Amino acid sequence: MSTSATDSSTVDPRELRNALGSFATGVAIVTTSQDGHDVGMTINSFNSVSLDPPMVLWSLAKSSASLDIFTNSGYFAIHILSAEQQDMSQRFATRGIDKFAGVEVERGEGNVPIIQGCSAVFHCKTTYKYEGGDHEIFVGEVLKFEHFQKSPLVFHAGKYALAVAKQNEPEVKEPVVGFNANSLTYLMGLVYFQLAKKSSEKMAEHGINDCEAAILHALSMGGGRSAAEIERIVAVGGLHVTDDILLQMAEKNLLTLASENGENKASLTDEGSEMLMKMIAYVQAIEDGAMPDDAYTELSLAKDLLKKAALKLLKD
Ligand SMILES: Cc1cc2nc3c(=O)[nH]c(=O)nc-3n(C[C@H](O)[C@H](O)[C@H](O)COP(=O)(O)O)c2cc1C
Repeated sequence: MSTSATDSSTVDPRELRNALGSFATGVAIVTTSQDGHDVGMTINSFNSVSLDPPMVLWSLAKSSASLDIFTNSGYFAIHILSAEQQDMSQRFATRGIDKFAGVEVERGEGNVPIIQGCSAVFHCKTTYKYEGGDHEIFVGEVLKFEHFQKSPLVFHAGKYALAVAKQNEPEVKEPVVGFNANSLTYLMGLVYFQLAKKSSEKMAEHGINDCEAAILHALSMGGGRSAAEIERIVAVGGLHVTDDILLQMAEKNLLTLASENGENKASLTDEGSEMLMKMIAYVQAIEDGAMPDDAYTELSLAKDLLKKAALKLLKD
């Protein structure tokens, strides 16, 4: 719904909050320290003010337990969070806990704690403070800053979100992709085939074929399974599991077979588990190598989408 109001008495706070939430922001943690007491909190009221001199602002609820320390310390640091730091954001938005417990920090100007792994950090000296209703507005001069190329954490409509750059034109225009660039099946098939080929080649160096690799994966979910039970797990990949294959793998010491009610039940050996760990690391490295730099956000979205599609396909 849409609401407009001219007089504060007619403003519904929840509607106002919802409307303000339609402005997507980044997420930051602001920290400071006084007399050896560190404080910090998650904010999204951060904004740039001026480039020359370099200045930024943020606002602090007057109800905050940290108001006095932020007011008196004279310094603060703004940490722009990366997409991987949602847990950190949650932690610094939680009242009454030791927010810094187990968090690795360095020390900045004014002994301010500096959290590691952020997209950017602005070390600031408080220059002005303004009244802003139920908040205090802090303006600071940026004394120095650090910037790392990381995907940002976004906050929109009361939820964490990821940012993806809009692409007006597909970046890849090679003929091999161009013709079928809008077919999900074709693109997935192409990427899958190329990745699987590289993985197979790597595993073949260790004497493991695709079916054996899938069996090792299946047994990592729990041992004591027959060929038919393993096949039910790996059948999604179109593979066929027989007792002969299990016997060959047992000869290679990758699994043990125990006879139960006339059936061979397979379980991983230590060697099999080790081989599986190696394979997982190889596949991860091959996948990482195929992705552009800093693909965290796009990969998270793609994986979420494919998980949903997989669940739907397996249900149908
Ligand atoms: C995404 C997000 C943005 C927030 N932005 C602000 C903000 O700009 N100012 C503020 O005072 N509180 C903000 N909060 C709430 C504080 O992080 C939270 O109340 C915090 O625990 C207060 O710290 P305190 O324990 O020092 O009072 C935000 C919370 C979240 C999750």
